[in-house]
Amino acid sequence: MTVVALVPAAGRGVRLGAGMPKALVQVAGRSLLVRAVGGLLDSGRVHHVVVAAPPDQVDVVERELGEFDAAAVHVVAGGADRTESVRLALAVTERAVPDADVVLVHDAARAFTPPAMIGAVVDAVLGGASAVIPVLPVADTIKQVDEAGAVTATVDRSPLRSVQTPQGFRPGVLRAAYDAAGGAATDDAGLVERAGGEVRTVPGHPNALKITTAFDLAVAESVLAVEPIGELR
Ligand code: CTP
Ligand code: MG
Repeated sequence: MTVVALVPAAGRGVRLGAGMPKALVQVAGRSLLVRAVGGLLDSGRVHHVVVAAPPDQVDVVERELGEFDAAAVHVVAGGADRTESVRLALAVTERAVPDADVVLVHDAARAFTPPAMIGAVVDAVLGGASAVIPVLPVADTIKQVDEAGAVTATVDRSPLRSVQTPQGFRPGVLRAAYDAAGGAATDDAGLVERAGGEVRTVPGHPNALKITTAFDLAVAESVLAVEPIGELR
């Protein structure tokens, strides 16, 4: 049984504004990328990791990942948007690990995802689901507004979920979704849905938050300060 994780890490981190790609930003001495890759490997369920790096910083990212087994961690040049980065990493994965049973796609920006949640996604795919996403209930009240900003409806939030990564797929399902994809999507399961596939859910975790802004980074730092570091890597 072989599990591969694709890690899109080629973004510029404009909203974080750290003056460097977000994946290379450090929290308590370790970069988001090292923490994300470390969490995948710590789950004990992931055998290969393929990282999509900013195209002009492939060598920097390779050095950054030097602490991991070089046979397990590969770096490829990413693309202009996340969908393109995943597409490029998927192509390399299909050549390097043609016998994969499960493909995960996991944002470098979700650097504090608990390894047990990663295992739950793998288990759900191995249990027969063709596409699996970790989700959380929506905490805020959700309103619909018109162009002028006036409220037109209060949306029933009970069937709504916010979506995290890693998202898990049977390899053929992810390939078919990317082959059929018309354009960019905000998540990979969205492409499977567009192609008519079924997507299942497993419980997500607050620690799997996506680091987008300086506020998110501050939240991660304070969680790290009170939770055991091994749990969060
Ligand atoms: N990503 C990628 N290739 C891109 C753009 C994004 O691999 N061309 C990755 C990011 O590195 C990140 C994940 O996709 O791990 C989610 O994207 P996001 O949170 O938007 O990160 P950035 O694009 O770096 O941030 P921003 O949009 O603020 O610039
Ligand atoms: Mg982005």
